[in-house]
Amino acid sequence: MRIQLFLTSGPLHKVDFEKKTVVVVDVLRSSTSICTILNAGARGVIPTAGPGEAGEMWTKLGQETTVLAGEREGTKIENFQLGNSPLEFNRETVGDKNVILCTTNGTGVFARVARAELTLSGALVNVSTVAAAVVGVDRDTIIVCSGHEGGFSIEDTLCGGMVIDLLKQTHGCYLELNDAATLALLLYEANRADLPKAIARGEHGRYLTEIGFGRDVEVSSEVDSRPVLPVMRDGRLVRVED
Ligand code: MLT
Repeated sequence: MRIQLFLTSGPLHKVDFEKKTVVVVDVLRSSTSICTILNAGARGVIPTAGPGEAGEMWTKLGQETTVLAGEREGTKIENFQLGNSPLEFNRETVGDKNVILCTTNGTGVFARVARAELTLSGALVNVSTVAAAVVGVDRDTIIVCSGHEGGFSIEDTLCGGMVIDLLKQTHGCYLELNDAATLALLLYEANRADLPKAIARGEHGRYLTEIGFGRDVEVSSEVDSRPVLPVMRDGRLVRVED
């Protein structure tokens, strides 16, 4: 299996997604939020590229059955119901609802990979579930690290590296890696003994802690704590049982 990893979403316009599996990774925090939302019994998550699109979608779908959530600079967008903290999403706030989610880096990536055969949302909280799904599908796979403010992020790269490690070590896959995928694997191998520490040292982890979301950083580092498989179907991420 060929694995191409992108350290940021910048070069995606050059990528051929035809017949590929894509894993969109944004550990801090949109992928973790997506897993938490689906784990809490929501019907689905609709990722959007900006607050305008999210607001229009909310009007279109009806406010009875949908929740509008998202952040800018880490905090809740004005007039939105919820922000992007995984701690906000539970049975009471999102159960049986569709959640329209709008975040700075993560949610906009889904529209850009729409030509993929299969798109998954991956985080550390569902990393083993994602790796098992990638193996089950057995297609060339693209891991997109959403990154932070257009640049590289430690936590997404570590998560990509862990997916690759699981494919090799747990599932015994023979992998052909691009250099960014090899780098992610090396970064993961160097930090596997203490992932929470490595993530807390990163720019985004430090920023979130500074603005009062330190617990989110810890929760987002809890490997396999929300073992759901979010799969993109008709513009919406839904939970698929494996
Ligand atoms: C993003 O998509 O940029 C992140 O989820 C930001 C955040 O930590 O809320």
